[in-house]
Amino acid sequence: MPVTADRAPLIYAPPMSARRIVVDRPGGYDRLRLERFEPAPRPRGHVRLEARAIGVNYADCVARMGLYESAKKYVGWPLTPGFELAGHVLDLDGPWKMARGAPVIAITRFGGYTSVLDVPEHQVFRVPYVRGRPIALREAAGLPVVYATAWYALHGLAAIRAGQHLLVHSAAGGVGGAILQLAKQAGCETTAVVGRTDKVEVARALGATHVIDKSREALFARARTIAPRGFDVVLDANGAETLKGSYEALRSPGRLVVYGFHTMLPRAGKTLLGRPTRGTPSWRRLATSWLETPRFDPLRMTGENKSVMAFNLSYLFEETSLLEEAMSAILDGIEREELSILPTRGFALDDVAEAHRALESGTTTGKLVLEV
Ligand SMILES: NC(=O)c1ccc[n+]([C@@H]2O[C@H](COP(=O)([O-])OP(=O)(O)OC[C@H]3O[C@@H](n4cnc5c(N)ncnc54)[C@H](OP(=O)(O)O)[C@@H]3O)[C@@H](O)[C@H]2O)c1
Repeated sequence: MPVTADRAPLIYAPPMSARRIVVDRPGGYDRLRLERFEPAPRPRGHVRLEARAIGVNYADCVARMGLYESAKKYVGWPLTPGFELAGHVLDLDGPWKMARGAPVIAITRFGGYTSVLDVPEHQVFRVPYVRGRPIALREAAGLPVVYATAWYALHGLAAIRAGQHLLVHSAAGGVGGAILQLAKQAGCETTAVVGRTDKVEVARALGATHVIDKSREALFARARTIAPRGFDVVLDANGAETLKGSYEALRSPGRLVVYGFHTMLPRAGKTLLGRPTRGTPSWRRLATSWLETPRFDPLRMTGENKSVMAFNLSYLFEETSLLEEAMSAILDGIEREELSILPTRGFALDDVAEAHRALESGTTTGKLVLEV
């Protein structure tokens, strides 16, 4: 259902000045700097948006640390992180599917931590309506990345079918929660893995059939009791810590989808001296994890009928039809109330360092957003 002028807010004022978060060079939380700026002229084919809320993703933290390959490839330094936002249309070329002032969601390959942004038209989407009302912009801002990642993993790669059993790591987080929801929508059974006891109920509420609290029980031993023949699909963004076990946990045939390596990085918390960590990577940990990351053998994989698939959404922005298909499935699912909005926690734009620290602590659930 397109958002048209008659559905746009009646009271609407353009922003007084633009603000954005800039990271001049790689590092910890202290590198996140707020600056005012004068937006450059809007390129043709782009929609100018005024952001009201911006999704925070773990990838933003990795980009801040200077470890995100596609940030180096497409932007370099200085970098404004951010892949997604929700706000209003400020300006556009001419008659289009959305009018000035319409509430919209946008995805962007970096640059999203800003109050004003120009985005190519094909990266702008309607805000879904639930029971006749648009969802709140703070909730809309957190939808695209986690749901598009989950959608591509499940439908683009793993080709899940009703009745299949999925093992989902970090299941109470952003992408993990979206995977649980899409799996439930598709009629799959899920075993959710969480790292803290307080996340167990969150994973259940998001639709998990079984939950393993790996802070209390041996993850793969318990997984074997739940699915003695193994899982049809395992979704893993941990990296070295669990990848080998995830592969072993597959049944034959089975698919392992790899979409992140967050155990390569330290969790935010306190140092041995009781000081807060600064958000910088440990080169020793990175090197050890890299060495410990399993290398999969196609000869063995063929014989066992197991596949290993991997992807990164930030390299898929040119795949416009894929993006369109994913976003329309997600927005339709939200509007039909088959998919729910993840629990969302807001931070002020200038509290971005706190948002990164929280996400890197591994204690958060659902989605974090910056409110402009
Ligand atoms: N490939 C792609 O295109 C793509 C797109 C989006 C996100 N991702 C990846 O998906 C993963 C989840 O992203 P998200 O933004 O939704 O974050 P999130 O899942 O909301 O938060 C991260 C979770 O990862 C777990 N974790 C394990 N080791 C960690 C560490 N060293 N530091 C912090 N957390 C750690 C924690 O959960 P538990 O302790 O409960 O496991 C934590 O809550 C990330 O690895 C991200 O890079 C990939």
